[in-house]
Amino acid sequence: MSSNSPHRPTSATDGPQLPRINRRTFLIGLGALGAVGGIGYWATAAKPNKTGSTFATPLRIPPLLESEMLDGERVFRLNAQAGETELVPGVSFATMGFNGTHLGPTLRAARGDKVRVRVTNNLPVATTAHWHGMLLPASQDGTPHQAIAPGTTWTPSWTIAQDAATLWYHPHPHGQTELQVGSGMAGMFLIDEATPSGLPSDYGVDDIPLIIQDVSVQSGGQRPGTPTTAPIGRIGNTVIVNGTYEPHFVATARRLRLRVLNASAARCYNLELSTGDEFHLVGTDGGLLAAPAAMSSLLLSPAERAEIVVTVPPDAELVLRSVPQDLGMSKGDDMTSGAEDTFGILRITGPGAATSGEQLTELPTTLPSAKQPGTVSGVERHFTLEDTTINGKAMDMDRIDTVVAANSTELWTIQNVSKRAHNFHIHGTQFIVTAENGGSPEPRNLGWKDTIFIAPGGTAQLTVPFSSYADPATPYMYHCHMLWHEDQGMMAQYVLTDGEATTEPMQHDGAMHH
Ligand code: C2O
Ligand code: CU
Ligand code: CU
Repeated sequence: MSSNSPHRPTSATDGPQLPRINRRTFLIGLGALGAVGGIGYWATAAKPNKTGSTFATPLRIPPLLESEMLDGERVFRLNAQAGETELVPGVSFATMGFNGTHLGPTLRAARGDKVRVRVTNNLPVATTAHWHGMLLPASQDGTPHQAIAPGTTWTPSWTIAQDAATLWYHPHPHGQTELQVGSGMAGMFLIDEATPSGLPSDYGVDDIPLIIQDVSVQSGGQRPGTPTTAPIGRIGNTVIVNGTYEPHFVATARRLRLRVLNASAARCYNLELSTGDEFHLVGTDGGLLAAPAAMSSLLLSPAERAEIVVTVPPDAELVLRSVPQDLGMSKGDDMTSGAEDTFGILRITGPGAATSGEQLTELPTTLPSAKQPGTVSGVERHFTLEDTTINGKAMDMDRIDTVVAANSTELWTIQNVSKRAHNFHIHGTQFIVTAENGGSPEPRNLGWKDTIFIAPGGTAQLTVPFSSYADPATPYMYHCHMLWHEDQGMMAQYVLTDGEATTEPMQHDGAMHH
């Protein structure tokens, strides 16, 4: 393979026998091209034949899952299964998915819908189905406490109680999440807009889900079980989108809404367009922004979502790519964690000359975003992130770390006191970032969030509105979403109570185990 093929980032965890980018060649290549006048290196990926890379496989679009209306409920069926999938030409992987051997279909519902999902586990191992970013009772959340044994079906139901958003679902079995998500168990759950936003919304046409994952290709294939060496977890050497290797999307519209989900175990992506053009961030984890925000690059850590609008000139050849980022670790740790990598993610071809006469409608200047939470009415809490613990403790299924009053809004300050990059995810809520590293939040964090990146030494201050679903017997989780960290126990539990919030952990009474 050519030494500058864009799909294959370098990493220290590459298999030894593999054809891959030699780090020195790679860096020299970058330097040399830089000298040619600042033309983006990967801009050349727009001429795929000259890079030795094709980016010619049509982008797979996860199918929309049909639902059935039964007794006023929208019923979906998901079937967790294992199999083999050729994720990279000529290389088959042992994979897991929902309703297929890799990834899962897209679920779609609107505020007010009563949904029910029949999740059948046809895997040989226990799993769970967690609805990441969803506001719902803890007992329906698919945490480690709602294990689905092989051969059984779990049927959660809830009423959609939030506005338009790009959510997702994935398994959450304690200690096994990296393996199962890394094997392909992930799908999107879209909450539809109640009022039309004016944004592209034709699924698969101009409203495109992009589930980005990295896998490790070694001679002979097979990813799962690759030993972890990077301080943030497993870093794969090959990036796939919706399970497509070197994907290509031929636009039929001049404006695309890309719903980007980082479904990787640990790799962070610093997204930009090879043209250097700006794009507009229109939505974050929990919904739409108040107004589109122009930016030219965007960092997305594992589990975060970004809805971006890209304007595609009729004759465009461009690449959505990931460029080096500063994760705030030591140089060596940043390097093994993939922070120095540059690679293409998706090649986009414009809709062609036939559309050049078409009037491009203006992007809406305001969006129907959910209203921000009121003032803090509950407790203020402080959490520290160490290497693989939160407040010095590893996850214990039988310990409730935090008791929160239902319907309160708390102020949570998260401080990364380690030398590793982390992120922080809270179940059962969407929060607003009120401060970051002592200053105002990064532009990318100005909307509703359920997961936030926190660099070593960094802090994030979150205003967290909690729901009315009091259930002292069933906890929600909060944790680092770098899945190796999470599996190591970088996770804790909170319950919502009708009574008083407390600040001391308590032993769980075990009522949740049935
Ligand atoms: Cu994406 Cu605890 O989850
Ligand atoms: Cu979650
Ligand atoms: Cu972490």
